[in-house]
Amino acid sequence: MTKKKVIIDCDPGIDDSLAIMLMLKSEEIEVRAITIVCGNSPVEMGFSNAKKVLKFMNRLDVPIYIGQSQPLKKKYVNALDTHGEDGLGESFLPEVEGYKQEMDAVSFLKKTLKEEKCSVIALGPMTNLARLINEDSDAFLAIEEIVSMGGCFKSHGNCSPVAEYNYWCDPDAAELVYKTAFDNNKLIHMVGLDVTRKVVLTPTILEYMIRLNPEVGDFIKKITKFYFDFHWEWEHIIGCVINDPLAVAYFLDREICSGFSSFVQIETLGISEGQSVVDSMNFYRKEANAVVLNEVDVKKFWTMFIGRLTGTEPDAAIEHDIQG
Ligand code: RIB
Ligand code: CA
Repeated sequence: MTKKKVIIDCDPGIDDSLAIMLMLKSEEIEVRAITIVCGNSPVEMGFSNAKKVLKFMNRLDVPIYIGQSQPLKKKYVNALDTHGEDGLGESFLPEVEGYKQEMDAVSFLKKTLKEEKCSVIALGPMTNLARLINEDSDAFLAIEEIVSMGGCFKSHGNCSPVAEYNYWCDPDAAELVYKTAFDNNKLIHMVGLDVTRKVVLTPTILEYMIRLNPEVGDFIKKITKFYFDFHWEWEHIIGCVINDPLAVAYFLDREICSGFSSFVQIETLGISEGQSVVDSMNFYRKEANAVVLNEVDVKKFWTMFIGRLTGTEPDAAIEHDIQG
């Protein structure tokens, strides 16, 4: 059976890195490429971090393309306060030399999406996708499926009372992507904070993964320590919310999340810039351009995440801790 091809558009970033690891451990998928966008980290740092993850996973066969270094209009604001000064939890892993591709991310997307059937999992700001629309909307419309980690429905924001970082960092890009989806009867699968906040990597789950697979567990511990500290300091929780892996898990198994179809528009101005306005009650009488995920089977997620990353299916020892 031919494997589904997926392009991961991301801003590594600690949770992006965990998402890449999960995707690489999913044999039913071909990771066609990784494209980097400015977000958590500046693009060159994101490129460097993606290489470090591919090297650890022994997958330096996956091409990485560098994308947009600035949002469409808004002044770029990184998230290094959350991801550490190296964008990878201040793990300061050794640099991987070279590996620069001959084209940039948008050129790669333009070429590949019209030649090959690919889905895109967007784990960062949507700047690359917005540039693609502006340069070649047919290539964007050729994307098989788009899963986006971003936005929030009823959950509060993480960059403002109402906005989630990926859509807040480049609201104009997110707005263009959702508007283009609406104009062309396409659906964006929005895996937002309503579901990702329920996926918390705890010390117990991490320790369990280390026991099952010390090499992988120690790597995860190395890149998430800073993230644990950040979550204690700012959200007073023991553990860290790992947003991006849930978007990947949902792509792999749609039963992991459930939700509803809805018209969604992204606000681009003023105090609520970056807010994903979800018209769940259909006030505007507009066709849906999104599938908004608002329920998650946390146990199903952890069973996949732990099983695929460690190579061992979780057992009763962790049963209590992965109920959600
Ligand atoms: O708001 C969380 C999202 O923003 C995640 O994708 C995280 O990596 C950052 O990009
Ligand atoms: Ca991300």
